[in-house]
Amino acid sequence: MSGKVTKVVFPVAGMGSRFLPATKASPKEMMPVVDKPLIQYAVEEAVAAGMTDMIFITGRNKRAIEDHFDKAYEVETELAARGKEDLLKLVQGIIPKYVNCIYIRQAEPLGLGHAVLCARPVVGNEPFGVILADDLIDGEPPIMRQMAAVHERMQCSVLGVEEIPLEHSMRYGIIRPKALSGDLDEVVEIVEKPSPETSPSRIAVVGRYILTAEIFTHLEKLAPGSGGEIQLTDAIESLLQAERVVAYRFRGTRYDCGSKLGYLAATIAYGRKHPEIGKEFEELLEKLTH
Ligand code: UTP
Repeated sequence: MSGKVTKVVFPVAGMGSRFLPATKASPKEMMPVVDKPLIQYAVEEAVAAGMTDMIFITGRNKRAIEDHFDKAYEVETELAARGKEDLLKLVQGIIPKYVNCIYIRQAEPLGLGHAVLCARPVVGNEPFGVILADDLIDGEPPIMRQMAAVHERMQCSVLGVEEIPLEHSMRYGIIRPKALSGDLDEVVEIVEKPSPETSPSRIAVVGRYILTAEIFTHLEKLAPGSGGEIQLTDAIESLLQAERVVAYRFRGTRYDCGSKLGYLAATIAYGRKHPEIGKEFEELLEKLTH
């Protein structure tokens, strides 16, 4: 198995039903936090981890994502004509030139596991990253970079995890951990959305994975699980019977931007530290809360 992970999958074919009507005609991943869409934060994180092949699993109503990472002739010509050099640079620099964007359609939203399986023809036999853009994670170094370092060291699949309140167990895949060292656990078991009474722990998998290509063999064999969807969690449970999977407690703050409250929390946190409007936003918040 080679050490360096160069491919990363962004499953963006979900329905985004918790954000209706905002997501009726445009993808959840294009919702901005301050001035950047969620998917751009995710791509920047992958680029910071040295990944070069961005594989988007898209569905209906997702054209805006493809357009976002393409050249925008009209916008660029207009900005150049008006001499708005700074904005032109911003628009042209969304993605480095050496990065490839590859789009695969998931014809039906059959679940996260199915979305990842759709990437198989492009991923081939190499280990690859998976980023769920609606989990926005603020960390330094960026989380995927932290995880790529763990993968290089351990040479196995790595799941990004964090401790959650037990009463939230039904929102996540939850692992049974066996302590390895500091921020690393061996994954002994993983269960999708267990009730608090049956949950194996409070350690939840969030939207960051590095998986070996072996996962595809396990995904292929799966029948629909929780919610009638092909669950990535079920394939990982099957994978860990065959090879080692570790859980990494990343250093960073996660905002669940798939939920309204998480999205608002991210907007406040990123607004506060924004170089252009941070100070004024802080004053505005102060005014609004007093
Ligand atoms: P979610 O469980 O957040 O579902 O999917 P969702 O459809 O995006 O949002 P809600 O729950 O209806 O509000 C987790 C991730 O898996 C992707 C989603 O785009 C999201 O990034 N996904 C899910 C797919 O790509 N395909 C699917 O069939 C299901």
